[in-house]
Amino acid sequence: MSDSSELILQSLDRVSELVDDPSALVYEQLFTRYPEFKQLFRFEPNGEMARQNMFQVTVVALMEHLEGKHASVTMVTSERANHSHIGVDNASFDRYYEVVRDTFAQILGDEWMPETQDAWNQAISSLINATQESAIVGS
Ligand code: HEM
Repeated sequence: MSDSSELILQSLDRVSELVDDPSALVYEQLFTRYPEFKQLFRFEPNGEMARQNMFQVTVVALMEHLEGKHASVTMVTSERANHSHIGVDNASFDRYYEVVRDTFAQILGDEWMPETQDAWNQAISSLINATQESAIVGS
């Protein structure tokens, strides 16, 4: 595993030790920054499960991408298309990963190191680049 995957994994492990359901904080942050996204989600009992699932899927996809698994690129690319149908354009879609990163940084406080930030930034850019629309052609 590369150093950067190792740092991301460490931060994920630590976040789940400190917080029972980090997804709740991630969505709180998402809706604070982008109130316009809130109306897209369902707020009924199953809605919470869907949000937790989306959170889980995004984090697993990021890790799998770092491990070089191409299936994650295919999945995220197709989620871009699915999300564009519900009103989440490409640029907005990418904001989610930044919100996850920043929420984790907040949870970890002093434990969030500059190297951790770099590892997240690199992983996010790499996944975004690999799943841009141009990447679909010929894949
Ligand atoms: C700001 C960016 C995003 C917004 C606003 C957004 C919005 C949504 C909404 C409204 C739903 C339906 C949930 C519901 O029915 O309440 C959803 C589902 C989902 N999203 Fe996102 N999404 C974003 C980013 C992403 C990203 C980056 C991924 C990762 C690949 C992703 C993967 C999924 C998946 C897999 C589901 C299905 C969850 C389920 O129904 O079990 N989303 N998203």
